[in-house]
Amino acid sequence: MSTNDLPATTVEVTCTVNGESVQLRLDPRESLLDVLRERLALTGTKKGCDQGHCGACTVHIDGRRVVSCLTPAVQADGQEIRTIESVAGPDGTLHPLQQAFVDNDALQCGYCTPGQIMSGLACIAEGHTADDDQIREYLSGNVCRCGAYVGIVAAVRQAASAAREG
Ligand code: FES
Ligand code: FES
Repeated sequence: MSTNDLPATTVEVTCTVNGESVQLRLDPRESLLDVLRERLALTGTKKGCDQGHCGACTVHIDGRRVVSCLTPAVQADGQEIRTIESVAGPDGTLHPLQQAFVDNDALQCGYCTPGQIMSGLACIAEGHTADDDQIREYLSGNVCRCGAYVGIVAAVRQAASAAREG
């Protein structure tokens, strides 16, 4: 038997995903991204590079954004995970940031969009939206292959100023 054939030790993890309590038995090598997509069928979070470079897999853990491809799923134990599926209202009404993406043509293929939205939400919540340069800096971990950056920055600016006006 090679080492690869050895059964992995499993770990019990209890966490909240988009407001619902979830219990999982995990191989400690599984990434949060794979668990979200393949076990919980939350495929809104995208797998781009799977190496921490593109930001397509960005989700929030306890309000902080993380690249879920580099986050071991066991780290979710006791934490609150939020994915793109929780952003629109229960009746499908778009979040103001999602609407701002539409208004500003901030997407072409849309593959990067869930990660951009999760980063944008954190950027707004953290108050890192003083000007376009700051928005660009705080979204710099998210790569858009279609180059929709101008629209993305405009969308975050629009949603941030709407949030400030309350
Ligand atoms: S898929 Fe995680 S950063 Fe690219
Ligand atoms: S819209 Fe295509 S990767 Fe960003």
